[in-house]
Amino acid sequence: MMLDIFRTTKPDVFTTQPRLGPKVQDALPRRGFDEAAREIGTWDGYQPTPMPNLTSLADRLGIQAIHYKHEGPRFGLGSFKALGGAYAVLRVLQRELSETTGRAITVEDLHSGSFADQISEITVISATDGNHGRSVAWGAQRFGATCRIYIHAEVSRFRAEAMQALGAEVIRVDGDYDATVAQTRIDAAKHGWKIVSDTSWPGYRQPPLDVMAGYGVMAREIVRDLPEPPTHVFLQGGVGGLAASVIAVFHQEWGNAAPRSIIVEPELAPCLFASGKANAATAVSITSETLMAGLSCGEPSQIAWEVLGESVDSFMTIPESLVAPAVRLLAGGACGDPGIDAGESAVAGLIGLMCGALDHDLRDELKLDTASRVVIIGSEGITDPTVVKAIMEGRV
Ligand SMILES: Cc1ncc(COP(=O)(O)O)c(C=O)c1O
Repeated sequence: MMLDIFRTTKPDVFTTQPRLGPKVQDALPRRGFDEAAREIGTWDGYQPTPMPNLTSLADRLGIQAIHYKHEGPRFGLGSFKALGGAYAVLRVLQRELSETTGRAITVEDLHSGSFADQISEITVISATDGNHGRSVAWGAQRFGATCRIYIHAEVSRFRAEAMQALGAEVIRVDGDYDATVAQTRIDAAKHGWKIVSDTSWPGYRQPPLDVMAGYGVMAREIVRDLPEPPTHVFLQGGVGGLAASVIAVFHQEWGNAAPRSIIVEPELAPCLFASGKANAATAVSITSETLMAGLSCGEPSQIAWEVLGESVDSFMTIPESLVAPAVRLLAGGACGDPGIDAGESAVAGLIGLMCGALDHDLRDELKLDTASRVVIIGSEGITDPTVVKAIMEGRV
């Protein structure tokens, strides 16, 4: 019963032949992941997040295991993004101070407090649809910088207030996420502010590389937790940073045994799907906002696409109608598994798996069978309670 809607809805799927060129190993260097892991592992409150096996749901889908990496508890910020933005703020401050003082400033120097005055004069800025901005604001507050966060008209009040509570000034911009990114570029150029973006574009690479190095902490926790490589990983896509980071780490750690990767995006924001079809980074226009706020991106991140373009096995888009049922399914304990509080952007990968496993043709196309062991990234917990309440009450 509970699974019927996923059985009867057929998502759009497109399968490619990954080339596995050098970018999978090199675009996000292992050294960057090592440094991020070393630093973030020392932060107060660092703890690997849980990864329960949803055995009952796996049974119902006719596969062996579903390892659900639950990012809700991450640093009390509610999502995996806590790992990226805050770490990139630290690196941006380090580079800026090294430049202004003319000597190599270390992370230890930054933590020592002796540069507090200089840091307080640095302003970091970023566009966000919620989670990345929260991480940047938290990082700026931790390290003592000034922070401005740009959001579009449809980012919820709750999310704006969460960033203000972390000391950020929040600026609303007309238009969508891509318009807010454009505005940060204009304002940074005008005022000398430092952009800490999770998406990269021609000429802007280092902070997004740092952001993705931070996400690698989560990917390495998964590698450590599993006794053998999984067969599949379903990854939701916004600009592609999460997916690129996880795929890069899996290839670095598991080589040829790395799992098949399937990117899942909202029908309303399918920039990675379009890029896969065109075999080049491709923008799409967003005509209405998806409920999956974190995935509402019209342009892929350039660095992320370099990795994804040669490594992804399948691209999928899913309709809005499946989001609320998936959040309710997880909350209620999927088919008898323990309940999980997942946010609306967390469930796309799981939706992709459910639709794929329950449809005869898609099951073949995605090579899912009774021996499949699947990793799902539950990328956020409840990051906006008002949205999840509406979902639970059936108003969405
Ligand atoms: C909860 C959540 N999941 C997934 C994503 C997608 O990450 P990316 O934009 O790096 O593809 C986001 C992005 O904001 C997010 O907030």
